[in-house]
Amino acid sequence: MSILDYETVALNESRDAMRIIDQTLLPGRTEIIELKTAQEIWDAIYLLKVRGAPAIGVAAGYGIYILAKKIADEVNSTDDFYAEYSRQSDYLNSARPTAVNLSWALKRMDGVCREAIEHVKASPVNNALLYIVDRLYDEAAAIQQEDIDTCKQIGEYGLSLIKPGDGLLTHCNAGQLATSRYGTATAPMYLGHERGYGLHIYCDETRPLLQGARLTAYELQSAGMDVTLLCDNMSASLMKQGKINAVFVGCDRMAANGDFANKIGTLVVATVAKRYGVPFYVCVPSSSIDMNTPDGDHIIIEQRPDKEVTEMWYNERMAPEGVKVYNPAFDVTDHELVTAVITERGIARAPFNESISELLSKPVDKGV
Ligand code: MRU
Repeated sequence: MSILDYETVALNESRDAMRIIDQTLLPGRTEIIELKTAQEIWDAIYLLKVRGAPAIGVAAGYGIYILAKKIADEVNSTDDFYAEYSRQSDYLNSARPTAVNLSWALKRMDGVCREAIEHVKASPVNNALLYIVDRLYDEAAAIQQEDIDTCKQIGEYGLSLIKPGDGLLTHCNAGQLATSRYGTATAPMYLGHERGYGLHIYCDETRPLLQGARLTAYELQSAGMDVTLLCDNMSASLMKQGKINAVFVGCDRMAANGDFANKIGTLVVATVAKRYGVPFYVCVPSSSIDMNTPDGDHIIIEQRPDKEVTEMWYNERMAPEGVKVYNPAFDVTDHELVTAVITERGIARAPFNESISELLSKPVDKGV
């Protein structure tokens, strides 16, 4: 069984626990863990056991559904239910600040929850709390299914920008492990592979948590692709040699003007790509576009513990005790460095302020 046969996020049969691949153990061990409590779900998101913006959104949807089911067993009124539901939703929302999919999914679930409460108040049903919980399940499952469809569409649009035999660079993991299937930045690569494009994929190791080495290299290799792992500081020389025809990266939050946050190091790649005339594409599901954030300066960047830089992933500590560390999880790439934004609704080009809002107002073209 390949890593690609596992679901990144799923429910167990009795729908009282969420099952995820513990991504901190990959590629050495594939362990499926079950999460039942708010604390377990919060920890799994914070510790990056489940990670990548779309997968975090799916985990938030299923996570709050599981918690709602438990709350429904413990209270007797819709008012008590909603008070506790909101408390737990706020708690999950505090796990990571940058990927907008977390708050996006919880807001969407909250809307459905409030609508269902209105409904049972207006036209009473047999078991009101069960009715509400069932609606929450439907919504969480819809978020997951939409993520699969979205990634496929992004793959088709992305592939239209690729030629057979191209060398493509990606940073971090915006692959299947960061979504429900296909990934975002990797979706054109998976489709190109299926269609015999003979692509050469280069993947940055992505310090400090090595999502590129541990996850992207692993999943693309499992799919039988030609993938080469690079130290983070090598892509410039490959671009200079002409070996990279395009860069595809994912996104944690895109502002209305096209500035976007993604894994730390993305800005370096974008800057170098501009220098060497290599097209730089950002693959962004609509769920990662935050029109309430005008530009990149308004994106909150998550700060992570020092030990991720000084101690993790090596047998021995590799930095002096007590050294000052600056460890933001993401950086913001200016829209001027972006060649195009690839969404499930189509491809946006500069001026992004206009093209992004135009795309968002369009329905998804399922025929792509
Ligand atoms: O800290 P992580 O591993 O959650 O960071 C993930 C990324 O930066 C991804 O590129 C982004 O979430 C897009 S995933 C399709």
